[in-house]
Amino acid sequence: MDKKVRIGLIGVGNIAQNAHIPAYLKQKDVELVACYDIKADRAKEVAAKYNMTAEESLESLCARDDLDAVSVCTWNNGHAKSAIAALKAGKHVLCEKPMSMNAAECEAMIAAQKESGKLLMMGFCYRFSASAKAIKALADEGKFGEIYHAHASILRRRGTPLGWFTDLSKSGGGPVIDIGVHVIDLTWYLMGKPKLVSVCAQVHNRIGDYKTKGVSRWEAFDTDNLVFETEDSAAGIVKFENGVSMIVEVSWAINGEAEGVTSKIYGEKAGANYSPCKIYGEEGGYLSDIDINTGKEDQFYNEIRHFIDCIKGNAECISKGEDGLVIQKILNGIYQSSAEGKEIFF
Ligand SMILES: NC(=O)c1ccc[n+]([C@@H]2O[C@H](COP(=O)([O-])OP(=O)(O)OC[C@H]3O[C@@H](n4cnc5c(N)ncnc54)[C@H](O)[C@@H]3O)[C@@H](O)[C@H]2O)c1
Repeated sequence: MDKKVRIGLIGVGNIAQNAHIPAYLKQKDVELVACYDIKADRAKEVAAKYNMTAEESLESLCARDDLDAVSVCTWNNGHAKSAIAALKAGKHVLCEKPMSMNAAECEAMIAAQKESGKLLMMGFCYRFSASAKAIKALADEGKFGEIYHAHASILRRRGTPLGWFTDLSKSGGGPVIDIGVHVIDLTWYLMGKPKLVSVCAQVHNRIGDYKTKGVSRWEAFDTDNLVFETEDSAAGIVKFENGVSMIVEVSWAINGEAEGVTSKIYGEKAGANYSPCKIYGEEGGYLSDIDINTGKEDQFYNEIRHFIDCIKGNAECISKGEDGLVIQKILNGIYQSSAEGKEIFF
């Protein structure tokens, strides 16, 4: 495919304008063509800024025969509907995280993908970071031996996003589904995607809608009609086949030190820390701690580049819908386990 890959955007709020569009604009073989947003004025504004056409409906966007692919950047409750409509219309889809609201929606998305023969790629951006690339390459070389345990956490002290994120009908959940998704996916991917067995977890809402001064938040483009219906933190253990385990801890608000993305994998021969990128092993009979200088890379640029390369047949997708389904099962498993007070088996 020598011609430019023609892109449409569904949902043009914060992540579309600040991550997807800038990353598409950096690609020489991409053209932004059209966008749709339930807020018609926002679609028009973004379309005018980037020389696109604003479409009035999901249907009219998908009906365009001059689009090759779309980015789905709506609230979480719009992912499945948008992705399925686009796939059915023969477009490749890059879907923001989380894949959807629940596993049933993910399965419907995968069915639509199979029927269409098009690509359904998950925007699991951390997989495309320099550190993830380095650790994954070492894992694939066998550096760590069998990976049998891992730690996935992301702790914000006061970092609840403002907007629809705390509205259950739009988000499907709180920090578990918003930021837990990143670190759970990253860690599961670095572990070599072991087969899911069970989840046992507890979610909390103890700090909730705080009024703390001097703290900053990610803001959705609309911050009217705010409600707080989700958890503010969660902890749990995920078990995989062959006795492999992962500890999970996430918070938007907790009374402890803020810790960014923490992903640690423990193997029989060596272990790794995601950030800073470090390998823990033995050299010459002594313990060794090796810093890996990965350099800096823009993970959104890499993610979008990979999407385009896959569309052009130059790469095999490393972040497919099937992976999104497994992660969704873990996310919803955390909620179900907490609600039912028991371990959930898959
Ligand atoms: N990868 C990341 O690190 C990252 C970071 C932030 C957000 N996200 C994800 O990106 C998505 C959007 O988040 P955001 O922060 O940009 O929110 P946002 O509210 O700023 O933007 C969402 C936009 O989608 C529109 N919209 C909502 N439902 C729609 C629908 N069904 N059809 C068309 N348009 C619709 C809204 O009007 C809004 O303009 C979410 O799924 C979120 O989880 C990912």
